[in-house]
Amino acid sequence: MSNPELVSLRGFTDGRGLLVSLEQFRNVPFSIQRIYFLTDLKTELPRGFHAHRKLQQFAVCLAGSCEMILDDGKSKTTVLLDEPTKGIFIDKMIWHEMHKFSPGAVFLVLASDHYDESDYIREYPQFLKMVYDTQIK
Ligand code: TYD
Repeated sequence: MSNPELVSLRGFTDGRGLLVSLEQFRNVPFSIQRIYFLTDLKTELPRGFHAHRKLQQFAVCLAGSCEMILDDGKSKTTVLLDEPTKGIFIDKMIWHEMHKFSPGAVFLVLASDHYDESDYIREYPQFLKMVYDTQIK
């Protein structure tokens, strides 16, 4: 699939540690309206399982790792997020799931809009139908 974009973020490492910067319209390709993060995650409890009608997001696993499945309705890809310098752009209409959080994982997400439940597509068959309907128009 073409949509998901793994973005290599520049890391500034010195004797004090690592610094990574996220900037709208530079390495983050949209206006950032919301930031949220996931902590206290459980390896055996995957999250996500939805797509968005309009929302664009950019995610980084700040600590630890997880596997992200991205699915545009035609093909799926699995991305390992195991470095704080690996960002993933999640476009609208991409079904995404986060699996196998490592102990202590911290997952950061930047979003292009405020939280709006009506933007979510939480049923996979509905997602596939919307992809199909868009294609045949
Ligand atoms: P949910 O979408 O189920 O999380 P995930 O995609 O990680 O599986 O969200 C969990 C709860 O948090 C749900 O009740 C909605 C709420 N929520 C907000 O209030 N604001 C937000 O920005 C987000 C992402 C979720």
